[in-house]
Amino acid sequence: AEVHHHEFVVQETPVKRLCKTHNIITVNGQFPGPTLEVREGDTLVINVVNRAQYDVTIHWHGIRQLRTGWADGPEFVTQCPIKPGGSYKYRFTIEGQEGTLWWHAHSSWLRATVYGALIIRPRENKTYPFEKPSREVPVILGEWWNANPVDVIREAQRTGGAPNVSDAFTINGQPGDFLKCSEKETTAIPVKPGETALLRFINAALNHELFVTIAQHKMTVVAADASYTKPFTTSVLMIAPGQTTDVLVTMDQAPTRYYVAARAYVSGQNVAFDNTTTTAVIEYDCGCASDFGPKIQPAFPALPAFNDTAAATAFAAGIKSPDRVKVHENVDEYLFFTVGLGLFNCKPGELCAGPNNNTRFTASMNNVSFVFPKKDSLLHAHYYKVPGVFTTDFPAYPPVQFDYTAKNVSQALWQPVPATKLYPLRFGSVVQLVLQDTSIVTPENHPIHIHGYDFFILAEGFGNFDPKKDVEKFNYVDPPQRNTVAVPVNGWAVIQFVADNPGVWLMHCHLDVHINWGLAMAFLVEDGYGELQSLEPPPVDLPMC
Ligand code: C2O
Repeated sequence: AEVHHHEFVVQETPVKRLCKTHNIITVNGQFPGPTLEVREGDTLVINVVNRAQYDVTIHWHGIRQLRTGWADGPEFVTQCPIKPGGSYKYRFTIEGQEGTLWWHAHSSWLRATVYGALIIRPRENKTYPFEKPSREVPVILGEWWNANPVDVIREAQRTGGAPNVSDAFTINGQPGDFLKCSEKETTAIPVKPGETALLRFINAALNHELFVTIAQHKMTVVAADASYTKPFTTSVLMIAPGQTTDVLVTMDQAPTRYYVAARAYVSGQNVAFDNTTTTAVIEYDCGCASDFGPKIQPAFPALPAFNDTAAATAFAAGIKSPDRVKVHENVDEYLFFTVGLGLFNCKPGELCAGPNNNTRFTASMNNVSFVFPKKDSLLHAHYYKVPGVFTTDFPAYPPVQFDYTAKNVSQALWQPVPATKLYPLRFGSVVQLVLQDTSIVTPENHPIHIHGYDFFILAEGFGNFDPKKDVEKFNYVDPPQRNTVAVPVNGWAVIQFVADNPGVWLMHCHLDVHINWGLAMAFLVEDGYGELQSLEPPPVDLPMC
C-alpha cells in the first residue's frame, strides 16, 4: 500500500459560466477540483491550505475513517473550521472500500464549487469483479449559481425563506449545450467504437436529486457509494446528492455523438420547477467530432419527467449487493427517526419570508432541529469531556405519533426544538433505524447520509412504516450497501449498521438547504476495548474554534 501526499489550496479563482466571469472558490484553481486516485489500503495525506476569505473544511464523503474521525471534516462536528490563512492535514487510510467516492467542502454552501472525485481501485494484483473497462471517466453532476452560493444561503437564513434556486445543472463543471454560452465547453467523453467504458457518476448538486440517461445506450450498474453491486442493466439512473453510481457502458451504437443528460427529480408536491437539462456528449472516435467541420447534432435520450417517482423507485429497487451479506437479525438499538421540514412561527420583529409570511423554514429529525455548536467541535468536546457543548438525549422515537404522510399535516402538530443532541451508541452495537418522511410543509425524498459508516438498506416503502407488516419486506440476503439513502417521498427506509467506528458521526439530509434548516443529528459512538476499537488522539494541527 502507498501513501499519497497532496496539497489542496482553497482559493478564489475566476471562471466563465453562462456568459459571465465569476470569482468562485476552488481547490488549486480547478473546477471541478482535482481527482484523487488511490488503491484500497492506501493512505492519503492531504494538506488543506486556506487562502480564501471564508472558513472552510473538507469532507471525504463516504470514507469510513476508521478510528480517524478527526479527518472526517464536517465543521463543528469533527473539527473547527480552517480559518483564512490556516491549514490542516487530513490523514486517513482506505480500508475495505472500492469504487467511487468524492470529496467536498463541508462549510456553509462552499461545496457548490469545492468538490472532486475520489477513485478507489482494487489493491495491486486484485481485479474488478467485472470485465476490465478500457476507459474510466468520472462524471460529476453539479449545480451552478450565478450569485455567490454563500451569499444565497446567508440571505435565506436572514429572511427565513427558501434560498434562490440554482441557474444551471452541470456535468464536470459545464452546463452543456442547452444553456447560454455553454456549447463550446460542453463536456466531451471520447470513446472508441465497441469498447466498454466505466463511467463513475457522482451527484455533487447541492439541492437536487437527478435522473441520468445516455441516448441509445444501456448502463450496467456495478457499484454504488464504493460498494460493488449485482450487475443491473438500466436506461435511467436516479442519483441523490452524496451518492455515486458506477456503470459500464458498451459503445455498441452507430459511431456518432450521443448526449449524456441529467435533469432534476423533484419529488415534493406542487413544486414548480424549471427542469433545465444539463448535457455532456459521448463522442465516438469516427471523425464526426472534428473541430474543423460542423459537428453532428447528438442524439437526445428520453428522460423521465421531473416528478417520476415510479422511475426513481424502480431504480432503487434494482440495486443489490453481489453476494449474501452479513445482516443481523438480533438488533441492539431499534430507532425510528422522522425526517422532514417544519416551520417556526415568527417572533415579533423577525424577518419572516417563509410560507404565509408569518413563518421561517426549519427542518428536523424527531422534532429536534439540529444546531451546530460554535465554540468547539463535537468530537473535540467529546474527547476532552468539555461540558456544555452537546447533550446525549437525542430521542430514539418521535415525541408524538401521528399520520406522518397524511395530506396537509398541520404544522401546529409540532414545532421543532432547536438543540445540539447526540444519540449515544455502545461500540459494536447493531443499529436498525427507520427513517420516516413526514409531509409537514411538503413530503419530499430526503437523501440521508451518515458519516463514518456504510449501511445496508433492508427495505423501502411508501406511507407510514408499519412495524408488523413491513418487516416482511426486509431483505436479509442481498440488501444494497450505501452511505446515502434516498428516503422515498411520503415513505420510509430501514437501514442497518454496526457501530464499529468510535467517534462523533453526523447524519443529515444531503440537500444542503435542509442541513441549514436543521435536518441533521449526530451519533456518539463510544470506544470499545483496546487500541483497535478506540478513536486515535487528535492531530497536533487540529483547528480550534
Ligand atoms: Cu457529503 Cu456531511 O456530507
